[in-house]
Amino acid sequence: MTKERFSDHFINELEQLFTWRRDVRHFKPDPIPDEIMDQLLSFACKAPSVGLSEPWYFIKINRPELRQKIHNVFKKNNLQASRDYSSDKQKLYNSLKLSGMDDAPHHIAVFSERNPDQGKGLGRKTMPQTTAYSTVMAIYSFWLAARAYGIGVGWVSIITPKDIHQILEIPETLEFIAYLCVGYPQTIRDKPELEEKGWEKRNSQKNKWIIK
Ligand SMILES: Cc1cc2nc3c(=O)[nH]c(=O)nc-3n(C[C@H](O)[C@H](O)[C@H](O)COP(=O)(O)O)c2cc1C
Repeated sequence: MTKERFSDHFINELEQLFTWRRDVRHFKPDPIPDEIMDQLLSFACKAPSVGLSEPWYFIKINRPELRQKIHNVFKKNNLQASRDYSSDKQKLYNSLKLSGMDDAPHHIAVFSERNPDQGKGLGRKTMPQTTAYSTVMAIYSFWLAARAYGIGVGWVSIITPKDIHQILEIPETLEFIAYLCVGYPQTIRDKPELEEKGWEKRNSQKNKWIIK
């Protein structure tokens, strides 16, 4: 059934969903039922994509030895990132938890096909990066849908794509986009954790149109 517009009640709920989405790094061990995980994937697949190319691949990483290897890559890169800051910032950086890989019950690696047949190249000749953008749209759909079910998602980017390709044996025709930690959050936060810890805060200027 098509809908011309959604109710004010729904819009109010939607605002709450966007506001409370959060990046989550602390998880309860309880697994998410398969039916809900499948539902989240189906929401992700409703995302828009360049030329209707649907370039995304969501890969569940279940094997403990693969998770461990990827966690080691994160630890190595995180240590390196910390060393790049001056000593006062380094202390604050080290106090941040920047991945939920140690406790998330579900790990998902997301890849994007660089040059998919699907879509027949439409929209990509001028902007080849739009396949990656499309995959990010799918990730955000997954993220919001997860939050609607009370499920937290944490995006980990402190990992070198080359290592992830190697560990998961994924060909270079796919581009590594994200590593997602998924599970029920330990706590519900009304502010980004990085804001709570004094790393960064939202910039109210971003909430204003630039007019030209
Ligand atoms: C592309 C992308 C990469 C991110 N990488 C990381 C990461 O490696 N580690 C981390 O803790 N958070 C990561 N985040 C989460 C951001 O830190 C978080 O979204 C931001 O601090 C705002 O907090 P909120 O999502 O709770 O509103 C990433 C988010 C995005 C969109």
